[in-house]
Amino acid sequence: MQVLVVGSGGREHALAWAARQSDLVDHVYVAPGNAGTSLEPNTTNIAIGAEDIQSLLEFAIKNRIDLTIVGPEVPLTLGITDTFVECGLRCFGPDANAAQLEGSKDFTKRFLKRHGIPSAEFRTFNDISAACQYIDHIGPPIVVKADGLAAGKGVIVAESADVAKKAATDMLINLRFGAAGEKVVIEDFLPGEETSYICIVDGEDILPLASSQDHKAVFDGDTGPNTGGMGAYSPAPIVDPEMEQRILDEIIQPTVKGLMKEGIRYTGFLYAGLIIDDRGNPQVLEFNCRLGDPETQPLMFRLRSDLIDLIVAAVDNKLATVRASWDDRAALGVVLSAKGYPGNYSKGNRITGTDAVESTDVKVFHAGTAFDSDGNLIADGGRILCVTALAPTVKQAQLRAYEMISQISMDDMHFRRDIGNKALAYTMED
Ligand code: GLY
Repeated sequence: MQVLVVGSGGREHALAWAARQSDLVDHVYVAPGNAGTSLEPNTTNIAIGAEDIQSLLEFAIKNRIDLTIVGPEVPLTLGITDTFVECGLRCFGPDANAAQLEGSKDFTKRFLKRHGIPSAEFRTFNDISAACQYIDHIGPPIVVKADGLAAGKGVIVAESADVAKKAATDMLINLRFGAAGEKVVIEDFLPGEETSYICIVDGEDILPLASSQDHKAVFDGDTGPNTGGMGAYSPAPIVDPEMEQRILDEIIQPTVKGLMKEGIRYTGFLYAGLIIDDRGNPQVLEFNCRLGDPETQPLMFRLRSDLIDLIVAAVDNKLATVRASWDDRAALGVVLSAKGYPGNYSKGNRITGTDAVESTDVKVFHAGTAFDSDGNLIADGGRILCVTALAPTVKQAQLRAYEMISQISMDDMHFRRDIGNKALAYTMED
């Protein structure tokens, strides 16, 4: 099979890495990919942007691509799957209608309410004075969300009514996120611990992936602004077998069935961003219509099944016939970012030491990387690398990942030093 992976981040490097190991796959193309994907065997980067659906389609037809796997949300919400399927091509990811689950917070909150799926109380506004009145009514802390896609920056947790009103004003009046902020969702803040729960769905059946947990804040101790994610591990001890069953029964299954009832057949990765609230109940914070980044990096490092086998089963509506098996060891990935990310940061700093750290239990997944004209590896984005380690316990995986990071150098490099500590609190590891 010829496989095309769409995207350029750490998630897409991990997907391409897993795909190229499949016995079913002859060659993997990544559009546009990064320096890391260009170095993988049997893998070629293609200079087409992830949102240029027409060029991707032409490439897929010309190169007889058998399966396209879409990493990021934007091409999915723009309808890449609809376009590919109309032309008779296999494309893994929800169609534009189903991708609204990520593309519109208002759509999702209304859907959750209609189907009695647990999530915070909310109201949606396009008028600033009504939004401010509601903010005064519910009081802090308050969550203000841009309705549309805002590259992970459209959710503000406000500790005061003034901060919430400023966030709503920025979105509704100053159009900080453009059209994505023309509507805002204002919801109650739910205290608790966040976790990710990701499945493969074929319209009807659900194949859960191993549990994983992300670290969204930029600094240690979950402080500072939210990022796309600064590190992740799998499994996540907060999702014990009892909690997993509750998540499936109370959230994932009602979601897939509810979508079906409304005429929406969801096929693709389905990512539930959850909070396990203070009373131990799982509630939906958001849905994503794709895999998480950086959750994918530890997940793919632990996956022992053939990824392509699982995806083909889903595309062919035969998901019930396959099972996913996982390495018993824990995997933990730490993101190395540019100083300043998620705000302004510089590009072009040289990166050294990545080759020396790779082994059977350590993999460096690239994100914002490129080669300069002399062939040197350089930083080319906010999140740059995700150093991922496998070890018998989370603690050992953590030690191994950080030991390897100490061998990587780059000016203005930033990373969190506490990835995995939350898991240690559950497992009572030292
Ligand atoms: N890691 C969070 C996300 O992918 O949205």
